[in-house]
Amino acid sequence: MSSQNLAALIPGARKALEVTSLPRNHPAPGEILIRNQAIAIQPLDAKMLLSGYGGAGALESFPAVLGSSGAGIVEELGEGITGLAAGDRVVFDTQALVKGGETNRREGTWQQLVICNAKTVAKIGDIAFEQAVLIEFPLQTAVGALHLFLGMGKPGTGSDGEKVLVWGAGGAVGSHAVQYAKSAGHTVIVTASPRDAERQKRLGASEVVDYKAPDVVDQLRSLGPYKYLFTGSGDPASQKALASLLQPQGGRFASVLGGEVGLPSNVERIYKPFSKAAQKDENGEFRGWWYREYLPKVLKENLVEPVKFTRRDGGLVAVQQASVDVFEGKVRGKLVVNPQE
Ligand SMILES: NC(=O)c1ccc[n+]([C@@H]2O[C@H](COP(=O)([O-])OP(=O)(O)OC[C@H]3O[C@@H](n4cnc5c(N)ncnc54)[C@H](OP(=O)(O)O)[C@@H]3O)[C@@H](O)[C@H]2O)c1
Repeated sequence: MSSQNLAALIPGARKALEVTSLPRNHPAPGEILIRNQAIAIQPLDAKMLLSGYGGAGALESFPAVLGSSGAGIVEELGEGITGLAAGDRVVFDTQALVKGGETNRREGTWQQLVICNAKTVAKIGDIAFEQAVLIEFPLQTAVGALHLFLGMGKPGTGSDGEKVLVWGAGGAVGSHAVQYAKSAGHTVIVTASPRDAERQKRLGASEVVDYKAPDVVDQLRSLGPYKYLFTGSGDPASQKALASLLQPQGGRFASVLGGEVGLPSNVERIYKPFSKAAQKDENGEFRGWWYREYLPKVLKENLVEPVKFTRRDGGLVAVQQASVDVFEGKVRGKLVVNPQE
């Protein structure tokens, strides 16, 4: 097995990636070393690389390694690991964007050999690495927002008399929010592009409203009221629309993005790094359920449909241009890269 560890390093804020060799790290107690076989280029990483965005946490020092999720094969185990063995195929997320410095360089997933806490790993059996990595990040974001922060129940516990609004359901996070809300048992109303309406219905939406329609808020008001409101696009227009739908009584909604939006005082916006929910010790119960029960079940039983993806050949060298294409909005679905190529 090669001990080489190539990484796409970001040498400084807004500097282009350099693919170079990093030392092969060894797992400390409670950690594992994973040979990373698939990364999906997320808008978060593209924004951190190209605009210095620090929305989910800052990079404390450079060089740094972006990417906080991946899928691959367990190569080495630290002391005290049970339930995992060398050779297991896994999907995982790391603290790379939660903690900077040395932790970031050990755990950033834009590299070939990644250190990961064994608590944030799920076995994937024989599912394709691409499929697992495409689902884990956006589904954790959606479930973190809906279940952990808005209080929506687990699958099968909701009622179809309680409506959920997912704004911006066209993206990866929005698509997974629709599927989770439907699996919980709710009636799901979404905004999306008209060209996406058929897929949205298949994912579980009962009504699809064009978010560009001039009367979008009126249409949504006539389809409500909503018990849970979520924007998977997070843009200011969506936040204002959800705040307006909560009037006159007020309430709360969750958003994937923050920003200075100027919302009414009776509206609470919940904006968190939902994609990192399982990394926080205070969410230990969620983490256990997510990694030991829910995510493995979703993958094994094929319970959600991932967004479409395109493979980018060229390994880590391809990540810079792939990030530019994501940042510039040129990509529908996700770009997936194999760091071993
Ligand atoms: N807070 C967190 O934890 C967290 C985690 C993950 C992602 N995010 C953020 O969430 C956002 C979405 O991420 P993603 O991975 O789902 O992105 P994505 O898969 O790239 O979604 C892009 C799609 O969203 C739709 N969209 C774009 N702008 C929209 C708008 N203004 N209103 C409604 N729909 C719009 C478009 O679909 P149509 O053209 O078909 O409408 C577009 O193709 C990003 O900004 C990302 O940084 C935050």
